[in-house]
Amino acid sequence: MDGRLESRGVSRRGMLQAGSSVAACSLMEALPASAAPSKDAASGTDLMLELDVNGRAHKLAVDSRMTLLDALREKLGLTGTKKGCDHGQCGACTVLMDGRRVLSCLTLAASAEGIPITTIEGLGATEGRLHPMQQAFIDHDSFQCGYCTPGQIMSAVGCLSEGHAGSPAEVREHMSGNLCRCGAYPNIVAAIMDARAKMRSV
Ligand code: FES
Ligand code: FES
Repeated sequence: MDGRLESRGVSRRGMLQAGSSVAACSLMEALPASAAPSKDAASGTDLMLELDVNGRAHKLAVDSRMTLLDALREKLGLTGTKKGCDHGQCGACTVLMDGRRVLSCLTLAASAEGIPITTIEGLGATEGRLHPMQQAFIDHDSFQCGYCTPGQIMSAVGCLSEGHAGSPAEVREHMSGNLCRCGAYPNIVAAIMDARAKMRSV
């Protein structure tokens, strides 16, 4: 639950259930007059957020309806996270929130405040080296056009940490939310199995 919105009497679930326009009105009512912006009724509400992305705190002003995906790409310039369908169907926008994979196109930026977010840009940054999963994707030629690849890699890291990479069949099942129009699936599965073996032996 998003503590910031919750403290204002507004939940993300409620926003989604009620629809964006109704939710935007609810949010407007929940905000103090000083925080309530002067926008027309069809617009959302401006919020000041602090997002923890790849170990750095970022203060940014966002529309209350902005997705995490758009905040990452348009506000922070982190364009490694891709927009495919923008409807939760392709997995291209996958990032980790507190180590768990989420579809950033279905996540409100406001709901991510206070939760550590990792994008593809932050995955291997700690020692200036590629993450073992990134290296495995290269070693196994697991991409062609590469558009789905950041989402595949982030999802693969999540899949591994969830303990869902025990066999190629299990990997296929738990990576089924990540589509690849180039059909690199066999190589993706091979990369994940390889990364799993290497990460276990470290
Ligand atoms: S862009 Fe998010 S699932 Fe396709
Ligand atoms: S490598 Fe092209 S969509 Fe997956």
